[in-house]
Amino acid sequence: MSEGSQVDLDRIEADALQAIEQASDGSSLESVRVGILGKKGTLKQVLRSLGALPPEQRASFGARVNVVKERVGTALEEAKGRLGSGSKAAPTAARRATDVTLPGQMPQRGSRHPVHQVASRMIRIFGNLGFQVVDGPEVEDEWHNFTGLNIPVDHIARDPAENFYLEDDLLMRSQTSTVQVRVMESTPPPLRIIAPGKVFRPDTVDATHSYMFNQLEGLVVDEGMTFGHLKATLLTFFQQLLQDDAMKLRLRPSFFPFTEPSAEVDLYWRGGWMEMGGCGMVDPNVLQSVGIDPERWTGFAFGLGIERVTMASFNIPDIRYLYENDVRFLQQFS
Ligand code: DAH
Repeated sequence: MSEGSQVDLDRIEADALQAIEQASDGSSLESVRVGILGKKGTLKQVLRSLGALPPEQRASFGARVNVVKERVGTALEEAKGRLGSGSKAAPTAARRATDVTLPGQMPQRGSRHPVHQVASRMIRIFGNLGFQVVDGPEVEDEWHNFTGLNIPVDHIARDPAENFYLEDDLLMRSQTSTVQVRVMESTPPPLRIIAPGKVFRPDTVDATHSYMFNQLEGLVVDEGMTFGHLKATLLTFFQQLLQDDAMKLRLRPSFFPFTEPSAEVDLYWRGGWMEMGGCGMVDPNVLQSVGIDPERWTGFAFGLGIERVTMASFNIPDIRYLYENDVRFLQQFS
């Protein structure tokens, strides 16, 4: 049997290649293909006889059949190219390329960054409390960043190691309190403004610090403003932001050159205290330096870290997650 099969196979191959060569158009080529490779074609029948062979011959005979199949297939492809694609049964490459029945590829959707989401919520809440949003430059002069805020020339906050100084007396602003001075210089009281924006400090990056972050500054200047107004404003803000009675606010005595008295703003929520920013009553020296009469007007101010508020809102343990642009993190806030 093995002798006979060898001969049969060579014959089949030779006959097939000849028939392919002689095919004069697409449809005769197609009938040659069906006759050899089709379901009832010669090679299929040969394969079916494989079972009758002694087991030790099956593998090598099967491999030979495959070689013939491949050679015939190649010859068919070549002939098809030569004759043009006259046959309906053979789809053209272009038709194969676009399969409109396949499911589409969905584009990846982006979402607002959590810091911007929280900044918007903060702005909306203060907006409801009557605060107007103002903007200020990120490149500042020393007057608006320090001097106008009652920060003397020899103060540690002005140290070159604590700031990103540029040329002349310019620096990347280290706080949004700069906007207080700009607003008071240009607008007579009563004032009720907030100024959200970026600030820059050469801090070592860790779980709660970065060299660039966002603050939201608040300033109220009016007649008869007291520390009670300040506290009520911040308390109302955090109550509306977190909507949770378990939240507590603590104003911890502190010092800032531009407020007197001054306090740190601490938030207790989800089992721990976290520092959110600073606040106080606007120092009379600050009012005087911008030409506002401290005998008539009083004011309060506060500066909140927007990243800190974001971390508290979403229970984010490390500020660095906010800057790494990892979509697995960002997608959780879409
Ligand atoms: N500018 C301060 C800082 O960056 C925060 C601050 C404290 C702002 C007290 C204020 C304030 O308006 O009254 O640390």
